[in-house]
Amino acid sequence: MNTFYVTTPIYYVNDEPHIGHAYTTILADVLARYHRLFGRQSFFLTGLDEHGQKVQEAAARRGVAPQEHCDLMSRRFLDLWERLEIKYDDFIRTTQERHQQVVRQILARLYDQGQIYAAEYDGWYCVPDERFWTEKDLREGNCPDCGRSVVRLSEKNYFFRMSQHQIWLVETIESGRIRIRPETRRNEVLGFLKQPLGDLCISRPKKRLSWGIELPFDRDYVTYVWFDALINYISAIGYASSDESKFWRLWPESRHLIGKDILTTHAVYWPTMLHAAGLEPPHTILAHGWWLVDDAKMSKSRGQTVKPLEMASIYGVDQFRYFLMREMVLGQDANFSEEALVGRINSDLANDYGNLASRVFKMVETYCGGVVREPKKLRNDDEDLKSLALGLGDKVREAVEGFDLNGALAMVMDAVKATNRYVEANAPWRLAREGDQERIDTVLNTAAETLRICSILLSPAMPVKCRQLLSQLGIEDEPSLKRAQEWGLVKPGTKIKSGEPLFPRIDVKTKSEGSPSTSLGTRRQKAENEKQMEQIKGDKGDVQPAEELVDIDYFKKIQLRTADVVSAEKVQGADKLLRLRIKIGEETRQILAGIAQWYTPESLVGKQIVVVANLKPAKIRGLESNGMLLAAQDNDGVVILTPERRTQSGSGIK
Ligand code: MSP
Repeated sequence: MNTFYVTTPIYYVNDEPHIGHAYTTILADVLARYHRLFGRQSFFLTGLDEHGQKVQEAAARRGVAPQEHCDLMSRRFLDLWERLEIKYDDFIRTTQERHQQVVRQILARLYDQGQIYAAEYDGWYCVPDERFWTEKDLREGNCPDCGRSVVRLSEKNYFFRMSQHQIWLVETIESGRIRIRPETRRNEVLGFLKQPLGDLCISRPKKRLSWGIELPFDRDYVTYVWFDALINYISAIGYASSDESKFWRLWPESRHLIGKDILTTHAVYWPTMLHAAGLEPPHTILAHGWWLVDDAKMSKSRGQTVKPLEMASIYGVDQFRYFLMREMVLGQDANFSEEALVGRINSDLANDYGNLASRVFKMVETYCGGVVREPKKLRNDDEDLKSLALGLGDKVREAVEGFDLNGALAMVMDAVKATNRYVEANAPWRLAREGDQERIDTVLNTAAETLRICSILLSPAMPVKCRQLLSQLGIEDEPSLKRAQEWGLVKPGTKIKSGEPLFPRIDVKTKSEGSPSTSLGTRRQKAENEKQMEQIKGDKGDVQPAEELVDIDYFKKIQLRTADVVSAEKVQGADKLLRLRIKIGEETRQILAGIAQWYTPESLVGKQIVVVANLKPAKIRGLESNGMLLAAQDNDGVVILTPERRTQSGSGIK
């Protein structure tokens, strides 16, 4: 009970991190911090799912080797986690040897035990989902999961005897040995298990997919990405390694946080895999809902993805974290909008919490010479507030233990509101007029103490701001539940370090309605403008700013041709430049391209590219460049344009 092991799904590296990734990771971080606050040893694992078709295809689109692609994308995730104050204890990547060797060991063992067998598979396959379906699974002939078309496949594969574990699984879920939260999701899994469970195809032939962990018993196959990925939860903590002590300590306390879309893999595949391997199932699986935009699933093509980095930069990291935790009710979907985010920041953080802090600090300065004073005799309302604050810790702990973060934060905010009301009712400014210094000292001391306790209890969600606030109250030690259940820790005589407001109100006025009056407003406007520009530049071909239109004759003057890359090398002393020899038809030319950050020279040789062939030659770093290659740039970086099929070199682009 003194250990808490929390995991996030490991994310595919085919995509830019979005709010779905950020949400679960912040949730895990906040839970881990709360449990640490409660005095437990918390271990928080996150990481990346780097194998499989999606990743192989993303790498191919980019024209780089899969590992190179994974390395590049992993930086994106690591940078984002750093920015969002995510303090994980370990970060696993499925391409790491420590993970691969565990997968191989489990596969070999299950194969030896007859839990994995080879069979001819004949059925339907959804390429994007990398899943097989039976005829009856299909919905209107398409993948029942994603709705996309499926292909008929007939091939030898390896199967895990998942069906043999069905009865055990049902009993284990029903008896509560695996806790599936919320209840609706548990029922969903039990409902799914009313049908006979099939065996699970756990291999992919290399001729179709090579980016995966090779099966230890058949070199022509790699492991199905889910069979590989799920094992991260035990490989990262040392299962089947030379020292398994961490595994034995943590595994009985495992809590998997996942989105509702990956419930079957976690609640059916994973426990049966563990059972076959002779291991205990996970302790808890918590499936959260989806973040929606306008009540619909976010869609990239509609420009509706929410970029966590952008939100955190505009509105503040702690504010963004708080919003996500406060807004989503366990298990339910929630709508994301910047209006809701701003609304929440302004009401809870600027008006209530931030305002309480500013008032208390200012009044201590004005009426107590900047120093928190000894409280005098406590009256009923002081005692009430004190006992409310001292009772808060247990309530928060109970809510957090039930994964109800939204409830826990709401409770603390209610205490903040009660403190504001208390200050209001006691009106130190009036007491000052009446010359009742004793009462002022008591009221401000009581308010400062409550503020301290609330800040400790909010600190897992807003680690930076709460620490700052605590430090202003002269509290520098590590926040803990124990401290939140003690009174009188703001030592009389403490000089308050008042400063800028912690949570400035966000002015939502945009340019069209008048000038934004805060820099946040300006930044928001800038981000909005950028978003609009992106939409204009994006897939909405019909929206073009008039001044950018060119007529066809002008365009015809630009000769775009296909070309073959014959050789490529780095330019000495220039980090970004590559020097390419290309063939446009029979003609060989040299061009320089600023793509060294995105492509290795080797990966370009043999590729067909598109160039502007009639560009005036230019000298770059003393080298002549005779043409320019075309490339697209987005948040993922730069990708060169290549024709959909190889063309005769020098073909014109129409
Ligand atoms: N690689 C697998 C997980 C393997 S775990 C052994 C995977 N990766 S993912 O990157 O596609 O998705 C990771 C998580 O993001 C899932 O839990 C999914 O539910 C979550 N989300 C994706 N979009 C989401 C929202 N819009 N809202 C909330 N979470 C959603 O699946």
